Amino acid sequence: MWNPVDPDVVENPHPLWAWLRRESPVHAVPEAGYFLVSRYADVLRVSRDAQTYSSELRGIVQRDEAGRARLLKTELVDQPQARVLGVADGAVHASHRRVVGRTFSPSRMERMSQLASEIARRCVGRVAGLDRFDVVESLAIPLPLELTTRLIGLPLDDQAQIQCWTDHALRMAGGLANAKELAEDMEQTNRFHGYLERCFDAASSHPKDDVIGDLARSVQAAERGDEGLERWAAVAILFQLVVGGVETTVGLISAAIHHATQQSALWARMRGEPEIVTAFIEECIRLDGPAIGNLRRTTCDTELAGVSLPEGSTVALLWGSANRDEFQFPRAERFELDRPNIKTHLGFGLGKHFCLGAALARMETRVALQALRAHADRIALACDPAALRHKPSMGIRRLQSLPIVIDSETKA
Ligand code: HEM
Repeated sequence: MWNPVDPDVVENPHPLWAWLRRESPVHAVPEAGYFLVSRYADVLRVSRDAQTYSSELRGIVQRDEAGRARLLKTELVDQPQARVLGVADGAVHASHRRVVGRTFSPSRMERMSQLASEIARRCVGRVAGLDRFDVVESLAIPLPLELTTRLIGLPLDDQAQIQCWTDHALRMAGGLANAKELAEDMEQTNRFHGYLERCFDAASSHPKDDVIGDLARSVQAAERGDEGLERWAAVAILFQLVVGGVETTVGLISAAIHHATQQSALWARMRGEPEIVTAFIEECIRLDGPAIGNLRRTTCDTELAGVSLPEGSTVALLWGSANRDEFQFPRAERFELDRPNIKTHLGFGLGKHFCLGAALARMETRVALQALRAHADRIALACDPAALRHKPSMGIRRLQSLPIVIDSETKA
């Protein structure tokens, strides 16, 4: 019998996902009282129906000391602080989404694109002479970390600390931490909240042209009686943007470069044909997108693919599995650049909660590939593929390290 929280299964979830899609598409995990939804059509149905499937969660799935899945009730549960943007429904969600949508304006995104190119070139410049380096450490982490820090308006000197806090928050949400780690993750996550509160308050006296400045102006508007955010919501949104924006993008950049090591013909074409890069990234998101699962909670008794879901059930939407569903993507396990329906992948979710950072993440991955491509005519994995490991998490899939060797014909 499959155990979805077994670390080996989490490291390589594909056999479990294939079994679920074939044998038990809406699969009860009775000991934890939650359901795994693995087929494309069902994931689509749930993500389109925010009335029945709420994002206001009451718990997260965790592995207990005996190695079984259980649902851990979240501390805040009935407080409004528990309902912010990604974990809010209805009017509250819509108003948070409007504020963040405005702050990701086209002109700001254009500036971010130029900045991302500078950062990526700088990162690649540091390692280009080395021949062998770890992509995750050298490029996939520093690019989204610095870009997100600057986009939001947090102090650049705090990047290492922000990365450390993000790690804790994600390990906590990832479901595989033990009790000691979980306690540490909660403490560090509280510290991160405190830090963001202090940054927010400091930024509020002289709001600048960055995300934190926009959120501060929104809070000030609400204080004058106009539409806007409450302070706690602004801080919680900052938290979601950092935690949701950095590690996911690290995962996509790493996955894309990993695929590039296996696709030498496409790598060769990327120099002269920029449109290849765009299609390449979409297929990487479909096959190996970093967001592999998000939770929902049923608001009434319902039924999905013939399975009864009582009100209050927790449902895991397995985006990663849906993207490998043969009924939607024939030869789903294969990397194919010219899939006619590639835009239908669910790597950034779908519906009301569709990822607000999708364009940003795609852009960062594109500039990372282009910066590396400019230095490397050939790239190859510098370790046994079987030695590659992902961070243990049921929510976000990202490589821990990716050692590569590069070779350039144009080298002096
Ligand atoms: C490759 C990188 C990324 C992936 C794969 C990804 C994936 C996702 C997915 C699947 C969702 C939907 C969650 C759900 O339905 O419950 C989501 C939502 C969200 N993402 Fe991303 N994301 C990425 C990057 C980013 C970045 C860079 C940001 C911002 C800096 C961001 C901000 C958000 C926010 C705010 C939401 C919540 C939107 C809402 O609830 O309305 N994401 N993301």
